[in-house]
Order: sequence, then structure tokens, then C-alpha cells
Amino acid sequence: MDIVYLNGEFLPLDQARVPVLDRGFIFGDGVYEVIPVYSRRPFRLPQHLERLARSLAAIRLANPLTDGEWTRLIGEIVARNTGDDQSVYLQVTRGVARRDHAFPKEAKQTVFMMSGPLVTPAHELVENGVPCITGIDYRWLKCDVKSVSLLGNCLLRQSAAEAGAAEIVLFRDGNLTEASASNVFVIRKGTLLSPPKSHLILPGITYDVVLELAEAVGIPIELRAISEREVRSADELWLTSSTREVLAIVTLDGKSVGSGKPGPVFKRLYPAFQEFKRRVMRQAA
Ligand SMILES: Cc1ncc(COP(=O)(O)O)c(C=O)c1O
Repeated sequence: MDIVYLNGEFLPLDQARVPVLDRGFIFGDGVYEVIPVYSRRPFRLPQHLERLARSLAAIRLANPLTDGEWTRLIGEIVARNTGDDQSVYLQVTRGVARRDHAFPKEAKQTVFMMSGPLVTPAHELVENGVPCITGIDYRWLKCDVKSVSLLGNCLLRQSAAEAGAAEIVLFRDGNLTEASASNVFVIRKGTLLSPPKSHLILPGITYDVVLELAEAVGIPIELRAISEREVRSADELWLTSSTREVLAIVTLDGKSVGSGKPGPVFKRLYPAFQEFKRRVMRQAA
């Protein structure tokens, strides 16, 4: 049985209970993080904790724990669960209070954490890439906050699932934003393009890693607005996220992307990503 953390206690998943008046349940009033763990070591933990702090500040909720406390608890949840590679999920909500949209005067944050096996894409998906569809990004204007209010993302991802697609690539006002649970990169004429960080996309931890690696291996980078036309005529498209790592999109709305196979720039970046992970994990050992 999975062991989870809830408000100061470690307990089996089926014994963890949150009151129905928790504002996370009533309003989706909270933020979260997903941290990949390789060989029992959290990957890029300081960056995840920094993003958590930014999300909390954006919703005006005090961080209930110090970075040292988060680090210790995350280490403990990993130790208490099985598997060397795990995915730690943590969330902080504004706590339990009588239902009223305005913030309660007195409420204590609810802190929940769980960890399960990290399922990265199978070898076959990495080799062959995945199909995606496109859609209009109708989410709110604070997509940089990793909010637990994910209804827009869920509706969008469901339309991808119903179309047999891995993801839905989103456009707002004619420009690429991201996908329902991943960032998107575009390759045109050997240059790696992605939208710059703004309120319209989640600042992905993997997005940063990909940019660092592209720079290190000498792939030119441009962070700028990317039109729908540029996406539809791209040589390569990639998805990135903590659990999907870097994955090539090979069809978009049923039409081949480039050659219809993961492209040459992907084949340079992907091994660099795997090597980087191994190196970081060795250093952390
Ligand atoms: C909307 C959205 N964009 C991008 C990402 C990728 O972020 P990261 O690389 O930190 O996992 C996620 C991750 O879940 C996401 O939900």
C-alpha cells in the first residue's frame, strides 16, 4: 500500500482523509508540484521548490514549510514507497473553512504528498513518436501558476484521449502556448523555437533542462511568439514534461510532422537528456 503524507503524518493512502470543506475540494484553491525521482533521488528539486514558492506567492498563500523541511519530507516519502524511480506529487491548499470565495481569516494550509512509480515513455514511443491534435487554449490567464484548478487542462486532455492522441497542442490568439500537461518545442531549419516564459505557459522544469542542453550541444535557440502556421509547417515538434521527458510529435491533426518520424535534432537532444540525467544522479549519489 502506498504511504502518503498528510498534515504532519505519514499514513496508508486508504486512510488519508481531507474534510469536504477543504478549499482545494470546494474551489480548487491550491497549488501543486510533480517531481521526478530517479534512483531514489529527486531531479532538480531546488527548481521545483522554487516554482512551488512562486505558485504559492501568486495565490497569496504562505509556504507552510521551509525548503529544508520540504526536502526532508520528500526524501522520507520516497524512502517509504517502493521503486527506485518515482513521481512525487505534492499539493498545498488554503485549508478548511466555511464556503466563501474570499480568503478565510483563519485556516491552516492542507499539505498532501504521495509518490508512485515514475512511468516514463516506453522505448517504442521514444523511437516512433506520438500523435497529437490541436485546440484553442481557453484556459485562464495565469497558466504560469501550477494550480490544482485543472478543469481546462482536463477537458483539453480528454479531447486528445478521445481522438487517440497523446496530447493537445494549444493556440491562443493564433500563437502556440503549450499542451494540456507539457511544454512544446518547435524545430524549423535546425533552430529550436519555443514560446518565452509568460503568464500563458507553465514554466516547465524540463523546458529549462532542454534549453540548457540545446545550448550545450550547439543547437540554435529562439524564444519568441510562434504562429500556428509555423507549428503546422515545422520540421519537428516535441513535448516536454517531468514524466514524459522529451517526446517527438510525429503527426498533428493526422498530418505528418516533417518526415513523420522523430527528427535529427530530437536524435541529438534525446541522448543528451538521458546522459544529463545519469550525470546529475551520479553527482547526487
Ligand atoms: C500545463 C503544463 N505545461 C508544462 C508542463 C511541464 O512542466 P515540467 O517540465 O515541470 O513537468 C506541465 C507539467 O505537468 C503542465 O501541466
